[in-house]
Amino acid sequence: MKEVLVIYYSQTGQLFDIVSNISSSLEDEDINVTYLQITPKDMYEFPWKKEAFFDVFPESFLQIPSPVEEPDPKIFNKKYDLVILGYQVWYLTPSIPVNSFLKSENAKKILNNTPVITVIGCRNMWIQAQEKVKTLLVSCNAKLVGNIALVDRHINHISVLTITHWMFKGKKNRLLGFFPKPGISDKDISNVVTFVPSIKKALRANNYVGLQKEIVKLGAVKIKPFLVLADKRANLLFSKWANLIYKRGKAGDPKRKKNLILFNYYLLFAIWIIAPLVFIVFLVTYIFMYKKITREKIYYSSVDTKNN
Ligand SMILES: Cc1cc2nc3c(=O)[nH]c(=O)nc-3n(C[C@H](O)[C@H](O)[C@H](O)COP(=O)(O)O)c2cc1C
Repeated sequence: MKEVLVIYYSQTGQLFDIVSNISSSLEDEDINVTYLQITPKDMYEFPWKKEAFFDVFPESFLQIPSPVEEPDPKIFNKKYDLVILGYQVWYLTPSIPVNSFLKSENAKKILNNTPVITVIGCRNMWIQAQEKVKTLLVSCNAKLVGNIALVDRHINHISVLTITHWMFKGKKNRLLGFFPKPGISDKDISNVVTFVPSIKKALRANNYVGLQKEIVKLGAVKIKPFLVLADKRANLLFSKWANLIYKRGKAGDPKRKKNLILFNYYLLFAIWIIAPLVFIVFLVTYIFMYKKITREKIYYSSVDTKNN
């Protein structure tokens, strides 16, 4: 019997739909699936209030853990052949609940010496978040063997508008009745089962060599070079903002509130003014960057870490 553990957190249920599609198709007479839902001790309210949405920025980005509930002790009774880790991105970083879990002693016990497939469900900026998850997995002595990244495929600015509507109103429906539906399409959520036969084969053989290449061919990951660049640049700027705001005190502190309002305006400026300018520079310099872009596409599609 092969034992698979599915670890996930999901606020709206989108990520849960993705991982449960994978696991129900994975389950078989010789494959048993167990679930571990990460539950923060202080729940994040959904739909988000605007202030709360921005207030999680510094702790998300700086990867400061916050308490999560202890897993059911039965989880520790088994040694898992494979872990499927479903996570979403908050501010270019694994969400606070997932980051908190990965930094816990429980994660170290569960993931030690265990193959892990990450399943990302986000708007579209996950590349640097995955680099951060790679580091966290190394600190748990886990082995990343696969990655599936599902995103909103609409153009960046459309997805910003529609996800904001979803996050603040709480409904995954069309903004103003005519924008596309926010988040990952229903089709992509159901098509995630396409990757399962390859995962099953690797799990049964206990051999994950070549798995990522195989599922990338099936569309598990699509790298958009402009988003790679935007993600890197935004990480540099977010780092300055996050440190500045974090130093202003805890949630509710008036100084912090003032800085969060400034950050909100900055974010709007960055999305609507800076990003289009960077895009023009990206297009103009594309030909000179071609080799680097190709190298990065290969690296970010893979499960390699920078130092191997
Ligand atoms: C506070 C916050 C920040 C987010 N930041 C990002 C981000 O930087 N990049 C991205 O692609 N998606 C981002 N998202 C979207 C999430 O990754 C995710 O798609 C959405 O929250 C639904 O996930 P769920 O499965 O938890 O319901 C953010 C969402 C929230 C709530």
